[in-house]
Amino acid sequence: MDRIFIRGGNRLCGTVHISGAKNAALPILFSSLLAAGASRYRRVPRLRDIDSTLGLLATLGVAVERRGAEVGLDASGLNRWEAPYDLVRKMRASVLVLGPLLARMGRARVSLPGGCAIGARPIDLHLKGMEALGAEIRLEHGYVTARAGRLRGAEFTFDRVTVTGTENVLMAAVLAEGRTVLRNAAREPEVAALAEVLNRMGARIDGAGSSEITVEGVAELHPVEAEIIPDRIETGTFLAAAAVTGGRVEIRDCEPRHLGAVLDKLRRAGAEITVGERAITVSGPERLKSVDIQTQPYPGFPTDMQAQFMALMSVAEGVSVISETIFENRFIHVSELSRMGADIVISGDTATVRGVRRLSGAPVMASDLRASACLVLAGLVAENTTEIHRVYHLDRGYEALEAKFAALGAEIRRVG
Ligand code: UD1
Repeated sequence: MDRIFIRGGNRLCGTVHISGAKNAALPILFSSLLAAGASRYRRVPRLRDIDSTLGLLATLGVAVERRGAEVGLDASGLNRWEAPYDLVRKMRASVLVLGPLLARMGRARVSLPGGCAIGARPIDLHLKGMEALGAEIRLEHGYVTARAGRLRGAEFTFDRVTVTGTENVLMAAVLAEGRTVLRNAAREPEVAALAEVLNRMGARIDGAGSSEITVEGVAELHPVEAEIIPDRIETGTFLAAAAVTGGRVEIRDCEPRHLGAVLDKLRRAGAEITVGERAITVSGPERLKSVDIQTQPYPGFPTDMQAQFMALMSVAEGVSVISETIFENRFIHVSELSRMGADIVISGDTATVRGVRRLSGAPVMASDLRASACLVLAGLVAENTTEIHRVYHLDRGYEALEAKFAALGAEIRRVG
């Protein structure tokens, strides 16, 4: 299995280009199920989760064509409605077929995702939303079976904010009869990006990006050409890397407006940040200062940046309190950081991080996607060499990670 070796101590300098957002690409690629005909998507990142998505679409009868960052999909031949356990197990976001299949075919069978490394992550709110639109849901043999005639518009309030839940119900509602109002909807930029693509396919969605989304159902949608928005978490990860190494990096092809909370925390921690049109320049100080973090749904501080920030705080001056309010059990990276010399104490959903002057390189194990990114950042500032195992987690969500870091001056290499 691949491992990544990082020799710490280099300041990162130079320019890095951001890829398309994984979490925007996934729902948008699944939305191709809603229309017959050939759609094209540009700036699709080359990632394992994208491979899994295209694999699942192909098993449903979608014609898939891929050339670099461009993907062509044609769901004219859609003839199956099942997302099997093997695929959902690899990627939870496979549940995003539920809404589109139900809307277009009147039926769907999707394996329940089960537990994952960062907590229970149920899909009950996805299912309640589908039921509100008139679907009949049954759970049997570890699968969700959903059936409906034409879905009917409805008013539905999410009990808590769910990103893929909002996307799933939105994709079901676009072909429903009549008006749907979704309240307490997720406001993440990826939801707004999906809605924009759906509208260009002929949907009538209003308010996406706010907590109330209104959908006037239409009878059918048509294919589309679309470009995936920049990855705000990849952007945040490079910002963090530049800041913690005391380097100076220009981040291009990003969307600074999607990073308000992250930029604010980095500035408070002592980084110098200049925001341009689709670009951010960041310079790190000799040593960062501690800041407190509480993860929140967008526009709050993203849970997907929590682990990376903890790596920064573990070498910052002072004490930082980090609260994780979105996922239970999303502190698995703490034990690995501790093995590298970090001083972190966990109590419930809060981690107290006392900054140390130096981390020391060690063999460590990646446990999920963002935890792996945290270990890369820790490795960049640690003495000697850090050896990261299970890097397949990184390949799920970071395109060309080593190449991008190496181009900024990091000593990083992958060994197969
Ligand atoms: C998405 C992102 C993920 C990010 C997360 C939170 C994708 C593909 N993934 O995941 O990177 O970390 O948003 O920003 O976009 N919940 C329920 N019932 C449900 C659904 C969710 O209780 O039916 C809970 C979850 O357990 C969690 C919280 O709601 O505690 C938020 O989860 P959610 O926003 O749904 O995360 P994902 O959409 O899975």
